[in-house]
Amino acid sequence: MAKEKILVIGAGGQLGSELTLGLRKLHGKENVMATDIKGPEGVLADGNFEILDVLMPEKLMEFLQKNKFTQIYHLAAVLSATGEKNPWLAWKLNMDGLIYVLDAAVEHGVEKVYWPSSIAAFGPTTQKIKTPQDTIMDPTTIYGISKLAGERWCEWYFRKKGLDVRSLRYPGLIGYKTKPGGGTTDYAVDIYFKALTEKKYECFLKHDTYLPMMYMDDAIKATLDLMEAPADKISVRSSYNVTGMSFCPSEIAAEIKKQIPEFKITYKPDFRQAIADSWPKSINDSVARIDWGWEPAFDLEEMTTDILNNLSRLLALNA
Ligand code: SER
Repeated sequence: MAKEKILVIGAGGQLGSELTLGLRKLHGKENVMATDIKGPEGVLADGNFEILDVLMPEKLMEFLQKNKFTQIYHLAAVLSATGEKNPWLAWKLNMDGLIYVLDAAVEHGVEKVYWPSSIAAFGPTTQKIKTPQDTIMDPTTIYGISKLAGERWCEWYFRKKGLDVRSLRYPGLIGYKTKPGGGTTDYAVDIYFKALTEKKYECFLKHDTYLPMMYMDDAIKATLDLMEAPADKISVRSSYNVTGMSFCPSEIAAEIKKQIPEFKITYKPDFRQAIADSWPKSINDSVARIDWGWEPAFDLEEMTTDILNNLSRLLALNA
């Protein structure tokens, strides 16, 4: 494998911290530079880290000039629920940040760029069950609007500037090492923490709200597989549909109860219900499967067992 020099922007987040670990394992610790606007915290403390604010384009250009990266993973973003409360901030970070990165990548000859899109790029009139790769997209959140616009920018940079930019439309990502912040699918992470610590959870979505989801291990694998795939296998330059599973709050609660019988869930839907209702319930990811061999490893049962085992150990260690 050719030696890569990798920059991760927004490495302190839920996805960034685990992706940085995955990249360090694959490419060597010394070849992966993690950056964020603060830190390093947790898993990032062990490796190269610098403070970098993607909204300072001159600093970004300087950083790329100095370091000669071959790949950039640009993950800094405001998620759906926070975005509805701070629409201008979400638009600025999600949109300007992406364009600064794409521009700097072209300017400094970066070979590949990764940027995450989301199921939030779909909307209420999109086909909800097994949402196809190419379909109506009418996002109603600022986060979703920024993701759809971002997809178009990525494809534009590929076509017009020849930049090898790749992307996945992540479903809700579920991990236990770092918590998400400000998303609508966050309940499926919080529920495991609360199940272990309090044996109860008040859910902000209704019991039967189905959403597409993915275990973090699968998300890291999908991302690295996409980025390692030969360029001629990549037929989608906007963003690929991918999914791991679909479930609703009452199903995840039932799965937890198998291992923690006293666990209780209650429901108190808030503004995030409307966001969830505008998104697909399940995703058709056949194009990703055909193009670069995507296949998830975890279903709800396997994920729950893995998280509860690991998280209870972690919580005991930190107690
Ligand atoms: N997990 C994200 C959110 O809930 C969707 O991509 O905002």
